[in-house]
Amino acid sequence: MKIVVTGANSSVGQNLLRHCTNAVDIDVIAGVRSERAFSVLPNSSAITPRVISYGDPSDLTEALKGSNCVVHLAGILIESKHTNYAAANIAATEAVVKAANQAGIQHLVFISVIGAEANSRNAYFRSKGIAEKLVAESGISATIIRTPILLGHGTAGANSLLSLSNRSKVKILGGGAHSLRPLDIDDLSNAILKVCRERPEGVSIHELVGPEAVTYRDLIAKAANMQNKSVGVGSVPVVLAKFGAMVMTTFKGGGITPTVIDVITMDENVKSNADRALSIQLTPLQNTLEKIIGKKLI
Ligand SMILES: NC(=O)c1ccc[n+]([C@@H]2O[C@H](COP(=O)([O-])OP(=O)(O)OC[C@H]3O[C@@H](n4cnc5c(N)ncnc54)[C@H](OP(=O)(O)O)[C@@H]3O)[C@@H](O)[C@H]2O)c1
Repeated sequence: MKIVVTGANSSVGQNLLRHCTNAVDIDVIAGVRSERAFSVLPNSSAITPRVISYGDPSDLTEALKGSNCVVHLAGILIESKHTNYAAANIAATEAVVKAANQAGIQHLVFISVIGAEANSRNAYFRSKGIAEKLVAESGISATIIRTPILLGHGTAGANSLLSLSNRSKVKILGGGAHSLRPLDIDDLSNAILKVCRERPEGVSIHELVGPEAVTYRDLIAKAANMQNKSVGVGSVPVVLAKFGAMVMTTFKGGGITPTVIDVITMDENVKSNADRALSIQLTPLQNTLEKIIGKKLI
């Protein structure tokens, strides 16, 4: 099986590629935006790094040709001077969908987020919802996987958790009272590869979350405890943080905006977890934390 991965240098992409190097039946075109990104991709005969341009339809189509499945990972939560939701989350998805049609791709896998909704008042959730719609209406069979905070080596969620759990005192948004369903990044990679192999007919949207609900406050305490540390967790009122973010980002453009604050303090609730539908064995939270804290290697 041959797959193309966009945003291959993302934290999810790097993990997925490591899983691919352990599989005997997979060849991957690892699509990134510049040659600089090649250095973070695993070195393996199964992986062909390739610079892709979302603004060049014929180049993108050429990159996708001959593959069975496209895994579209390129996407952002934090906007910057260089990129925004319209470009990274919507235009890039539109370009991939068009090129996938031209290239005769059999199946699309799109990684979205819990809360994605094309009519959302939140610009990030709206952009992911619009991207989902582009994928669902592409005419190609597709699997959309909505994910919560991802924990694994190199994910933004794991980096913040490690940093916070190593301090004696922290102040976090709303005192970390929001409830999360952290998903082990290895479980997501397993789900993606399963879908690529099976390429189910039609379009399905799955909400795949971790096995355990935990408040962010308790997650930090748990991670600290596993390192024989203890952290005093204080609170920054969300309203105040959003006001500060609004003032800062008016001048800076991007960064931690009120939109991002709403996303990262949202309760991650799902009606039904897709682990059964995707036949994925979820990693217990304790084991995921052991992996990122370094007690257990992948
Ligand atoms: N991490 C999480 O907890 C989480 C949770 C829910 C959903 N997701 C979704 O999972 C996917 C991967 O997330 P991640 O956290 O692993 O990503 P990441 O490490 O932040 O990497 C972002 C990727 O998007 C690419 N990108 C940025 N701007 C772009 C643009 N204008 N056009 C095309 N590509 C652009 C980046 O390429 P450059 O390096 O060239 O800028 C990079 O490959 C994303 O779609 C994200 O929305 C992640």
